Amino acid sequence: MIRLRKNVSAASYAGRIAANVTSVSDHFEGLARSLLSNMDGDGGSVVGKAVGVASLESRAGASTIAAHLAAAAAADGRDQIALVDAHLARPSVSSRFRQARSAGFAEWLEGVIEMEDCLICVAPQNLSVIGAGLKPRVRGVFQEETLGPILGRLRGRFDLTVFDLPPADGPTAADGLSRMLDGILLVIEAERVRRETAVRTVRKLREQGVHILGAVLNKRPDHIPDWLYRRI
Ligand SMILES: Nc1ncnc2c1ncn2[C@@H]1O[C@H](COP(=O)(O)OP(=O)(O)OP(=O)(O)O)[C@@H](O)[C@H]1O
Ligand SMILES: [Mg+2]
Repeated sequence: MIRLRKNVSAASYAGRIAANVTSVSDHFEGLARSLLSNMDGDGGSVVGKAVGVASLESRAGASTIAAHLAAAAAADGRDQIALVDAHLARPSVSSRFRQARSAGFAEWLEGVIEMEDCLICVAPQNLSVIGAGLKPRVRGVFQEETLGPILGRLRGRFDLTVFDLPPADGPTAADGLSRMLDGILLVIEAERVRRETAVRTVRKLREQGVHILGAVLNKRPDHIPDWLYRRI
């Protein structure tokens, strides 16, 4: 499990991450490399990976972590990375990357535009984002028959696609999409979610066929000094 402390700036990323949070950028880079690694070399997959980031409860930091992960994966310039805003009810990718809202994932799901119409290249050059769209419908949009071809396009074009997902336990949870991904990363806000709730949600997701890659314990407050924390 990755633990991220409360003082990580949401806007900072890879090269811009301040020196005092280097260990956090290391975590993201390590995670990105491990996600990308089994696509390289002998026997590696010829199609790109697709993973999701979902919080257990709203505002835990899923969008922040998804953006950092995508940016860290793109940082060395070798791989083509996409970040897709699949939290249609509360989008954030476009504004985070300072893009005006335009037709995006919702319209692609509806079949009125194609991938090329909603891909936006941001910095670094090998990172593309797809915003949530203009007027997204939030229910009943993640149908397998629609998602299959969409995931196929993304996997064919990108080495890694990161989906910024709605909360896994909420009314707009993207169960259908999560099931079709290679896995999801759960973001849990420290001292907010009860252990039993987390265990129950993980069990439910697994029963639904969602592969859980791991969890990020986000916004952990510093009750004890860092040097001591590392020893326990
Ligand atoms: N490690 C962190 N330290 C400090 N603030 C954080 C951290 N992670 C996220 N935040 C802040 O918490 C707020 C919620 O973050 P974010 O939008 O990423 O959460 P979310 O789970 O995607 O929320 P939503 O349910 O709206 O999709 C933002 O203001 C963000 O800047
Ligand atoms: Mg979000």
